[in-house]
Amino acid sequence: MKRTRIAVIGGGAIGRTHAVAIRACAVTDLAGIVDPFETGKALATEMECPHFSKIEDLPKDIDGAIIATPNALHVPQATTLIGAGIPVLVEKPLGENAAACADLVALSERTGVPGLVGHHRRHNLIVQAAKEAIDLGRFGTLVSGTIMASLYKPDSYFDVAWRRDKGAGGPILINLIHEIDLVRHLFGEITEVFALSSNRQRGFDVEDTASVLLKLADGGLVTVSLTDAGVGPWCWDTTAGENPARFPAMPAVSHMFSGTQAGMSLPDLAFWTHEGARDWTVAQGNHPLRAPAEDSYVEQIRHFAAVITGDEAPRIALADGAANIAVIEAIRRALAENRPARIDPLPQNAASELKAMME
Ligand SMILES: NC(=O)c1ccc[n+]([C@@H]2O[C@H](COP(=O)([O-])OP(=O)(O)OC[C@H]3O[C@@H](n4cnc5c(N)ncnc54)[C@H](O)[C@@H]3O)[C@@H](O)[C@H]2O)c1
Repeated sequence: MKRTRIAVIGGGAIGRTHAVAIRACAVTDLAGIVDPFETGKALATEMECPHFSKIEDLPKDIDGAIIATPNALHVPQATTLIGAGIPVLVEKPLGENAAACADLVALSERTGVPGLVGHHRRHNLIVQAAKEAIDLGRFGTLVSGTIMASLYKPDSYFDVAWRRDKGAGGPILINLIHEIDLVRHLFGEITEVFALSSNRQRGFDVEDTASVLLKLADGGLVTVSLTDAGVGPWCWDTTAGENPARFPAMPAVSHMFSGTQAGMSLPDLAFWTHEGARDWTVAQGNHPLRAPAEDSYVEQIRHFAAVITGDEAPRIALADGAANIAVIEAIRRALAENRPARIDPLPQNAASELKAMME
């Protein structure tokens, strides 16, 4: 496979993870860091790669770019890059609203320049093993699920202004969106939501805690308990041990799903089925699924390189990122109106790309 030269736009926390992953991946080279601020310059020095202050300064021969900047910049920067013919991996959330995301989907379709969204969990072999069992019919249909997304962010995390701002910050947009993508990926489309939120612990404009109910197209219900101000190991980032350089791995279960045929928890991949009749008085046995350990960020980079060369279609297309935002918008409506909200249909172009992906 041809080596690809990938630049990272935004040299902050996740920009560093991407830069390290690009250097670790066998088929990619780090073409440079774009960041007007000191952190980006320092990262470029550490990674021994060129530093640029703006996207326009990037050399013309790069093959792709990763957008790892504050949320509000994702759609404008992706528009510039796709417009210049450069494939992008855009960090989540794809954008701040579904309409802007849909315009980006349209631009990518019109130009044929691909985009991938940074919902990296789909590259994790644990998620792939769960998805395979579901696709084989071993789990049945999702009936009920509970997701704990409980993490404690230190005060210094909020020194960065956008993380406190309504619209760009808050764990619903920053963290819950990964759960939404995971639920949609494993179990299908979400059709309706309800939510309660609280900002009691931090007192910012944005929530620090929320309880969110997701209803799926085939009737399944998932409850997500979300907080960035609560102690406890029960969140994917720590339970899955995906990014040990940032989050120490802790062996706990954060996701529990009951299907019509089996019960499955993650990330331990426990897989419970009745030893006889499906009856709560009959014993169940755990026959865990298996997944070898792998760095999902490096796999994400390998996949992005294959998307750039045209060897693979994006696992999480721009339309998928737009669909996740549509769910976030419904949650915001549910919170504002204090009643359940249905998911708005995606604009036609994004909906047709998503349908094509799922077929
Ligand atoms: N996939 C994941 O697991 C994951 C994890 C963390 C963050 N993220 C997402 O990544 C994005 C960045 O988050 P972060 O925590 O790394 O933020 P951060 O604040 O640590 O980093 C953002 C970087 O962007 C730089 N920047 C600001 N304006 C810029 C511009 N015009 N051009 C280039 N660079 C610019 C800043 O100087 C900073 O270095 C967010 O959208 C966040 O939601 C994703």
